[in-house]
Amino acid sequence: MNTHAPSPRRILVAVAWPYANGSLHLGHIAGAYLPADIFARYHRMVGDDVLMVSGSDTHGTPITVRADAEGRTPQQVVDEFHPEFLRYWRELGISFDLFTSTGTENHAEVTHDIFRRLMANGYIYKGTTSQFYDPQAQRFLPDRYVEGACPHCAYEKARGDQCDNCGRTLDPDQLINPRSKLTGATPEARDTEHFFLKLSAFQEPLLAWLRSREGWRKHVLNFSIGFVEEGLHDRAITRDLEWGVTLPVEDLGPGKRIYVWFEAVIGYLSASKEWAKLRGEPDAWKKWWEDPEARGYYFIGKDNIPFHTIVWPAILMGYGGLNLPFDVPANQYVTFKGEKASKSEGVGEPVLSYLERYQPDAIRYGLAANLPETSDTDLTEAELVRRNNDELVATWGNHVNRVLAMTHKNFDGIVPQPGPFDERDQRLLEGAAAMLDGVQAHLEAVHLKAALHAAMALAQEANAYLSDTEPWKTAKTDRERTATSLYVALCAINALKVALYPFLPFSSQKVHDYLGLTGAIEDAGWEARRPEPGTKLQQPEPLFKKIEVAEVEGEARLSA
Ligand code: MF3
Ligand code: ZN
Repeated sequence: MNTHAPSPRRILVAVAWPYANGSLHLGHIAGAYLPADIFARYHRMVGDDVLMVSGSDTHGTPITVRADAEGRTPQQVVDEFHPEFLRYWRELGISFDLFTSTGTENHAEVTHDIFRRLMANGYIYKGTTSQFYDPQAQRFLPDRYVEGACPHCAYEKARGDQCDNCGRTLDPDQLINPRSKLTGATPEARDTEHFFLKLSAFQEPLLAWLRSREGWRKHVLNFSIGFVEEGLHDRAITRDLEWGVTLPVEDLGPGKRIYVWFEAVIGYLSASKEWAKLRGEPDAWKKWWEDPEARGYYFIGKDNIPFHTIVWPAILMGYGGLNLPFDVPANQYVTFKGEKASKSEGVGEPVLSYLERYQPDAIRYGLAANLPETSDTDLTEAELVRRNNDELVATWGNHVNRVLAMTHKNFDGIVPQPGPFDERDQRLLEGAAAMLDGVQAHLEAVHLKAALHAAMALAQEANAYLSDTEPWKTAKTDRERTATSLYVALCAINALKVALYPFLPFSSQKVHDYLGLTGAIEDAGWEARRPEPGTKLQQPEPLFKKIEVAEVEGEARLSA
């Protein structure tokens, strides 16, 4: 692939908007943020034009439930967690172009524009619905304030909007034995006026679109097609609430807000517009949304699938002129000892506690090696430690260190001029080139775990090459052979640093520096130029720190 293609591809990396109602866990990072970042870094490195956006989801009952429980305003809750999210991204190297929030003026404007256009196009209409009302609290109950058993899987703690066990979206009146989360009272149905999104109008176009998708993950496509085949029903997109995006029309009187799921997905577009404005090029967002060649990849957890493969595409179809998702590489769950790392259930350690104990690349590596791409994946802290110690430290870091140290010792830290390559040399050199192509093919297909495995397999081969050629021994007898071995090993390091960069941005930049190269590794492109003999290497430091098992008291906590 030509890294300096004259017209780079445009890649929108759209990442799920986390509710700003609590700390995130590693499950969230593995589910959406890390895969999105790996993908974005790869595309930037090949020279594509990447726009990576997301933000805090500041509305909805997850926020108000917490605010009510703590006697705070929803805004105070948001103000606590939004800055915490920004800290994760900074410390973990999650490279958003913009991480904003749904609380901005811009987001309200973009939402209003979409609402008005859909209404003008006949896809939003007014109707009366019956909504659960808590007679004790004397107020209408948002969907999440109603709990009961799931009608599909009988899970006892299903919420009025969704069942976390089987992933189906629900309406509160489908729940068996519903109860109010506010008072425990049995809610009663009362009439209230709302606006509805005419999802039923998109049944056929959505089905046709979904059936023509290629390369999507099976679980995403099957779930989405099944969902539409069951029949799409119009859905109320306003609620009786005081917290949320206001309506752009007066029809319903006060006390109504736009439903969080209708406006949160609009965030991808509003964030793109905000990014463009901040850049001083207010039309720049169009490159990712109006050019049909541009590709939007949506990185989300599986509980968000229908909103991204059905609701958001329907809104976009109804609006017209904007790109539908190109791919929705949703992940399954990361579980900790079998329990879903879910904010609402409070399982799993908060991200900041890991950041205190691990290098960011060690966290990224442990998660990337276990991405739940096709099935739920159980993670333990012992697994993170093992991946760090056995693979990052012992395989990759050790290889880099040995080769650089031997080059310093025997060749004054200068890339030596190799002699003729023998079969073993050729094999590693060709293996490195093939590895880079293979990793690239996996990354293009959003098979991130496979990409990482392909890179690490070459790191092992590079280690085996050293054991085989033993430059520390030949140094005493055959200077040219030693020069060749170290040169070939440096070539492998150079290729590996490229392939590993999307996964390990901090340490890969260091390797780039150690190799005597200047500038940002990302700008050097997706290619492994062989090091120039004569280049002065830098003095390396160990790339990764071994973690003593005794330091990890986390294991006990995870299983507690
Ligand atoms: N806030 C939602 C959640 O955490 C995700 C919203 S994704 C969006 O489940 F695209 F709708 F914003
Ligand atoms: Zn269920």
